[in-house]
Amino acid sequence: MDNLILINIVYVIAAALFIFGLKLLGNPATARKGNMLSGLAMLVAIIVTLMDQNIVSYGWIMVSILAGSAVGVYVSKKVEMTGMPELVSLFNGVGGLASAAVAIAAMVASELSSGIASISVIALIIGSVTFSGSLVAWGKLSERVSGKPIVFNQQAIANYGLIAATILFSSLYVLNPSSLFFIVVVIVLALAIGVMVVLPIGGADMPVVISLLNSYSGLAACAAGFALENNLLIVAGALVGASGIILTNIMCKAMNRSLINVLTSGFQEVVTNEIVVEGEIKPISAEDAFYVFEAAQSILVIPGYGMAVAQAQHAMKELQELLEKNDAEVVYGIHPVAGRMPGHMNVLLAEADVSYDLLLEMDEVNPRMENFDIAIVIGANDVVNPAARELEGSPIYGMPVINADLAKNVFVIKRSMSSGFAGVDNPLFFKDNTRMIFGDAKEVINNIVRQFND
Ligand code: TAP
Repeated sequence: MDNLILINIVYVIAAALFIFGLKLLGNPATARKGNMLSGLAMLVAIIVTLMDQNIVSYGWIMVSILAGSAVGVYVSKKVEMTGMPELVSLFNGVGGLASAAVAIAAMVASELSSGIASISVIALIIGSVTFSGSLVAWGKLSERVSGKPIVFNQQAIANYGLIAATILFSSLYVLNPSSLFFIVVVIVLALAIGVMVVLPIGGADMPVVISLLNSYSGLAACAAGFALENNLLIVAGALVGASGIILTNIMCKAMNRSLINVLTSGFQEVVTNEIVVEGEIKPISAEDAFYVFEAAQSILVIPGYGMAVAQAQHAMKELQELLEKNDAEVVYGIHPVAGRMPGHMNVLLAEADVSYDLLLEMDEVNPRMENFDIAIVIGANDVVNPAARELEGSPIYGMPVINADLAKNVFVIKRSMSSGFAGVDNPLFFKDNTRMIFGDAKEVINNIVRQFND
């Protein structure tokens, strides 16, 4: 059989496996299998691609595969769960860089037709924007750059100027596809756009940006696929681009924001009303809280970023079993952006073997909140902040939250009165029905567990 036919048949099979893998990723129980399947499909795709007659150097390709795989395995093994968004951000950036590099290779190898030159310059622009934007996002998440929006006078005008200049020089390149000068100018402009787009975004909006950059990295790969006329790269890029944009949309909905609003948030004046704190902080010890737990019939657990920091999921599972033995119903309320990455809480609780059936979404727990005897908030803050409902002008006003304050009793486990990721105060801590149990989440829960066992 002709090599090209064989390669394309295998590409179709690999594309089908990618789609099937994505479907499996939709459920925590099958996600691991989905990941393996997609990885396998990629391996097969790489092997058949190497059968192409036009491969220039097998030696360099092998060196690159080995070096890339070694770095990938090392960082994936080493990364802490809480550092995943930073890693994803770096991976997005490297994906963008790879597509830009492919585009540059195509552009300098020969004089391209205007169709291929246009698509190559699009791959170059999106890849470069993704690369520099992801680096800034990584810097913000790892606190190497200020996590707050960075804005300056006339920034919007500067951005429009950069976009206009990029369109101009890209068009000039398409008209003169042999010009190295125009390629270099487009690269510099696109890198500047990436930096300028991400700098004004900060705080709780960063996950949306990471997801959007993920989508861009897919679009860049898709455009590079057209430039190389490689069908599988087109399909794989389109899948990443589409899934990234779907996730971006889900996150925007979870925060009640439009994408435009997120991207321009740094330019908007935020009028923060003084929080009128009614009530006072009522601390309680884990030993005293135990008596309320012992009497409770229905308990809602609301985990957040602090549960990940404290690694309190196993202790919580133990407490859950003791409460169930005590004839109480225990369910978990999971906010879509709790923690620091999509699905963060689901992954942690799965690690502790908490049954998936007990993990309820925000929309499932909110309507029945008044019926819970206890809402126990473990290291969550922004996602249970009633200011999102009550305080017009708060930076998180309008973000859907888990209405923990409407439960009969609320216990908040955290170490201090400090704010969460969005940096805003939380009136929940001052409500009449709230008791604060100060301490590390794991230690506090272990303490309650000990009371049950004594
Ligand atoms: P946060 O609002 O960030 O609050 C976490 C709380 O955990 C802090 O107030 C902290 O208080 C407490 N904490 C930290 N270490 C602890 C420990 N060892 N034991 C007990 N408590 C501890 O968390 P959240 O409610 O999960 O909200 C997530 C926020 O992150 C949202 O604003 C969201 O938009 C943003 N975000 C989400 C994502 C995704 S996709 N999930 C990605 C990036 C950002 P103390 O210091 O007083 O203990």
